[in-house]
Amino acid sequence: MKRGTYLRYADLTKIQRKLLDSAKDAADTSYAPYSKFYVGAALLTSNGKIITASNVENSAYGSTLCAERSAIVRANAMGYRSFKAIAIIAKSAKGGTKEPTAPCGACRQMLYESSCISKSSMEVIFSNTRMDKVVISDIDALLPFGFGPESLTK
Ligand code: THU
Repeated sequence: MKRGTYLRYADLTKIQRKLLDSAKDAADTSYAPYSKFYVGAALLTSNGKIITASNVENSAYGSTLCAERSAIVRANAMGYRSFKAIAIIAKSAKGGTKEPTAPCGACRQMLYESSCISKSSMEVIFSNTRMDKVVISDIDALLPFGFGPESLTK
């Protein structure tokens, strides 16, 4: 699997495709009346379960929660804290996003915590809506020198 370059849907493994499809469907549950930027995320737990979520905006804009963090919080409430991968995809008011939607800094930080406690790096798959521009990366590449549980050793 090539990393760091754009891939297409057909280049992906079956589970990567399934995760992206799940994220794309989850974008339809987004509550984003302000930005009209509808993001879906799909987490793959270490035991193979897919947990999806979307972004939830608020009239107090800063209270908005991204799709990725919503997915982590949802998974936690369901008893899952260990993940192999996450897929992220967004739709826009015009329909589709031309460019892949990468996770924001706050989401990278939360993904990093998950990867630290599961003691394995997490694959991060992000794409444009048509899935003809797909990036396969991982949290260690997206957040180098991250601050995690180990950083709190006194
Ligand atoms: N958003 C996400 O859900 N995930 C990201 O990683 C980037 C941004 C959402 C937040 C807000 O509802 C909308 O996209 C526009 O920023």
